[in-house]
Amino acid sequence: PKVAVLKGGPSAEREVSLVSGRECANALRGEGYDVIEIDAGEDLCAQLTACQPDVVFNALHGRYGEDGCVQGILEWMRIPYSHSGVLASALAMDKEKTKEIYARAGLPIVASVLARCEEVEAGHVMAPPYVVKPYNEGSSVGVYLVHEGANAPRLAADMPPVVMVEQFAPGRELTCSVMGDRALCVTDILTDGWYDYDAKYKEGGSRHVCPAEIPDEITQACQDYALRAHNALGCRGVSRTDFRWDESRGLAGLILLETNTQPGMTPTSLSPEQAQKCGMTFGQFVAWMVEDASC
Ligand code: DAL
Ligand code: MG
Repeated sequence: PKVAVLKGGPSAEREVSLVSGRECANALRGEGYDVIEIDAGEDLCAQLTACQPDVVFNALHGRYGEDGCVQGILEWMRIPYSHSGVLASALAMDKEKTKEIYARAGLPIVASVLARCEEVEAGHVMAPPYVVKPYNEGSSVGVYLVHEGANAPRLAADMPPVVMVEQFAPGRELTCSVMGDRALCVTDILTDGWYDYDAKYKEGGSRHVCPAEIPDEITQACQDYALRAHNALGCRGVSRTDFRWDESRGLAGLILLETNTQPGMTPTSLSPEQAQKCGMTFGQFVAWMVEDASC
């Protein structure tokens, strides 16, 4: 079959997506697929009409590509595509809506509110420590940590008018991908400081321990929660749910941060590594996503 790999796009995670797209396209060629790479711009429909793919592999991240917009175009054009559909993509891209769904599914979260940037800058909207972040971006773009004793933050001019303010959850960064109806291995992410954009994508920016060396109870809880989050949001194919775990509090210290419906597929990304530890090559993992595509 002919596969169109969508990559790039206009979001803040464009560069990450270019790498994810290139890696996936190469892997699919290795698996024997006829692959065409498309940098998703305003002419996306024209490009798809011209190349007539049998299936789309969506390697986009962030707004437009991960939030249901591109998924809507592909539904409209009746082209099967990888990963989640319109509604799950839109819900998961909105971190606040995601938490409403988690809460309804009985999954543990920390308190958060949406606030206008002026309110956030005028004074603490909750007791520090807290985190300020766009409710609809990925890869830690535009994330501020406000420590105890610090002043209210000054936010960059390009922040969206409304942002999410979330109680800071201390502890380890754990993450677990879901592939269909199965949770993969759990990763423990070790960084010297904050797991920010550079730590995510620079070679050596973080160290991944996979499978995580944590109590079985916590591994099983991550896998159970990741699967329940995937299902509660209505995700399809592969997703990855991110956690914070305060080990001093045992199981009660484990909370969900978010679910990524288009997890990174770069050489430093987490999902491919988790799949590999579960016995799959990168090529097999990507090929599974193509075979799982629908519309
Ligand atoms: N948003 C990035 C791509 C991730 O979740 O892996
Ligand atoms: Mg994310």
